[in-house]
This record gives sequence, C-alpha cells and structure tokens, in this order.
Amino acid sequence: MRKKVVAGNWKMNNTLVETKQLIKGLKKGLKGIKLKDTRVIIAPTYVNLHQAVKKTEKSKIEVAAQNVHQAKNGAFTGEISIDMLSDIGVNVVILGHSERRAYFNETDSALAEKVNTAIGKGFDVIFCFGEQLEDRQANNHFKVVEEQLKNALFALRSEAFKNIILAYEPVWAIGTGQTATAEEAQEMHEFIRGLLAKEYSKDMAEGVSILYGGSVKPKNAEEIFSKPDVDGGLIGGASLKAEDFSAIVKSI
Ligand code: PGA
Repeated sequence: MRKKVVAGNWKMNNTLVETKQLIKGLKKGLKGIKLKDTRVIIAPTYVNLHQAVKKTEKSKIEVAAQNVHQAKNGAFTGEISIDMLSDIGVNVVILGHSERRAYFNETDSALAEKVNTAIGKGFDVIFCFGEQLEDRQANNHFKVVEEQLKNALFALRSEAFKNIILAYEPVWAIGTGQTATAEEAQEMHEFIRGLLAKEYSKDMAEGVSILYGGSVKPKNAEEIFSKPDVDGGLIGGASLKAEDFSAIVKSI
C-alpha cells in the first residue's frame, strides 16, 4: 500500500537557531500522533541540513534537501552533490519545484538527469510539477502536466518509481492563499495515476504516492487529504510554524 506523506518545504527561510527551534516545536507538536503509514519530511536550507539531521535522529521526522546537482562532482561553483548530501545522512531530495524552474531555469531535461543521479544513489525524490494559471485558464493543464512528467520521468524503469513521490503543485496556488479545491486536486491526481497506469501498469500506479501542494493550511488540509488519490501534501508557508505543520500532519 502506498504511503501517506506530509513534507515541509522551508525554502530560503530559517537561520540555524530558528531551524533548531522549529524542529523542537515539531517534535512536541507531533508527540502522540500515530504515524504508522505516514512519512513526515522537512526540507531546510542546505547549510542547516546537517544539524537538522542530528536534531531529528531519534524522531520520525526525515530530512530532505531542496535540490541537488546532477553531476557527481567538479567545477560547478555554488552547487551541492548527491554524495555530499548522502554523507551527512540526507536521503530524500525535492526536485523540480516551480521556483527552481522559474528562477533558476531548471528544464525538464536537467531534471531528468537530476532524478537519475538521485535515484542512482538510492535517494527518494519528491518530484514537483504543475501548470501555470494561463495553462489552466486555457484548459491546457492536463496536457502541461503530462508533458512535464513524460519529459522528466517516463524514461525511467517502473522499479525507479519505488523511490519517487510525485507532488502536483499548480503554480497559481503556491504562496498565493488560493488553493485548488479538493475536487480539482482529485481530478488531476486521478489523471496522473491514469497516466502512470497507461505508461507502466495499474499495479505500479497504485503504489506511487501523489501529493498536492499549493496553499495547504490547517483549515483546508483535511478536505484535500480526504480525496482518494491525494496521498498527502507538500507544504510551504504553513510548514514554517510548528503548530500549523503539526495540525496538517494530524489531519492526514
Ligand atoms: P505554499 O508552498 O504552501 O506556501 O503555497 C507550497 C510549495 O511551494 O511547495
């Protein structure tokens, strides 16, 4: 059975002191919540990953990086390699976030390489994708999502999807407070699972966790998570408050 996942993308927020405080708050907030089939993941900024790994060691919280370079090592000033992450105890990475695509020119083909690098090292990948507002208004959202998945992921073997968590994040819903309705999320997630079934197999499609991301808050999480093809969420703003993130985890 596929796992439920609640992941917090902290983006470029939190100093080391704030990182430690937030982890402390989260541990307190999650105390007593049964997390049997649910993974709880946080993604602090690079410089605080090592400390975050240490501070979460005896908890059920996993630590993810927000990006990784595709090359093994070399002359790539300012970049971080998969071995560096692995070495400090990180084994989950977010790839393809719309902010990386928009502000750092990440293309589908670069993402395909990054996914390969990460999976080759045994990492789990939270792979983000989603349409722009214009795409949805033009009723192109299914086509855009299909292209993004095809270009970055569909060259992979079925086996590789054991390490992939998909995160559908309509760009118009990220950081805007304008969330997709639970019905819109379900409709797209069902479509995505159908694509996987068509490209691979029904069995494989049933095993892949598909998260929704975009203005998930404690007040709307339960309704979104109640949909059959929504297996959790990728949370931005609300993951920066221990109380809110814990409440979102509780509602899964
Ligand atoms: P948001 O961000 O929850 O602040 O909309 C989601 C994300 O960027 O992953």
